[in-house]
Amino acid sequence: MNILGIETSCDETAAAIVKDGREVLSNIINSQIDIHTKYGGVVPEIASRNHLMDLPIVVSQALEEANMTFNDIDAIAVTNGPGLVGALLIGVSYAKGLASTLDIPIIGVNHLEGHISANYITNKELEPPFLCLVVSGGHTNLILVNDYTDLKVLGRSLDDAAGEAYDKIARVIGLGYPGGPKLEKEAESGNPKAIEFPRVLLDKDSFDFSFSGLKSSVLNYVNSSKQKGIEINSHDLAASFQQAILDVLIEKTLRAAKEFNINKVAIAGGVSANKALRKQLTKALDENDIEIYSPEFIYSTDNAAMIAAQGYYDYINGNISDNFLDAVPNLTIE
Ligand code: KG4
Ligand code: ZN
Repeated sequence: MNILGIETSCDETAAAIVKDGREVLSNIINSQIDIHTKYGGVVPEIASRNHLMDLPIVVSQALEEANMTFNDIDAIAVTNGPGLVGALLIGVSYAKGLASTLDIPIIGVNHLEGHISANYITNKELEPPFLCLVVSGGHTNLILVNDYTDLKVLGRSLDDAAGEAYDKIARVIGLGYPGGPKLEKEAESGNPKAIEFPRVLLDKDSFDFSFSGLKSSVLNYVNSSKQKGIEINSHDLAASFQQAILDVLIEKTLRAAKEFNINKVAIAGGVSANKALRKQLTKALDENDIEIYSPEFIYSTDNAAMIAAQGYYDYINGNISDNFLDAVPNLTIE
């Protein structure tokens, strides 16, 4: 079954064709990063306008790369939330029009479930049940994947998402947008123990996350250093901030795996591209005989192949949408 995936939830216009949920025949990502960089973050209105212009071209490229025509597509999977409403609406409207013209099914896909399914593309042997740490620009979630379409959220971010914290701190130390990869690079030559930032673990049973206290603490450090005329070592600051985030992510993931007796853990979302996270989490899980799975870097950040992958499992489980499919900016998993 060939599914055309469409993703326009934020600032990537993406289309991909995936066979039977796991075999990527094409994967086109048109990033708007250069356009939004000068504003220091994503401008929703501009994102929508660019999706509108770029989506038909990106879909044509996806067909061309897969050596296919529209007649070879069996269904369309489109992200219908969570995300920026105007951006989502472009993808959903386009997908509905195309599905009705071609007279094929349309499947609305949850963006976070798509991120999790990126793991099926890279790890052909991976099957539920497993635990997944989803860390992106908008979400930090610990999710129990009981089955392909049966997911339970164990914990979520109560304030800033991990990626959001990376982006904000990167901006404060002048690294620019998007902050995650830039801050990771800055941290490589820094000392993660140089500055003691708080690890907010909430109460000991909670799997929820909170990163706003860490963010304030870093801001206070920067401001008070400036006031005292002390020069900031941005490498040490980046490394210490990153370590405070990673310690919390790793502690909670490991504890959840143990508590639910799970021996497979996957990571997903933009922050899962972070090499320090991958290395440290692998070590912690290895020590506890827990297997770790991660997507290839290209499938960690936003793409449409992951949407087509999840769309396939939604389809075979009967979760098929219709022409009333709507964009839901705060779509949840349950
Ligand atoms: O999943 P994603 O592409 O988009 C959302 O659904 O939000 O995630 C984007 C987020 C951004 O906050 C970006 O700074 C972060 O992922 N990110 C990283 C890295 N690469 C991307 N954060 C830390 N380290 C990275 N290497
Ligand atoms: Zn995403």
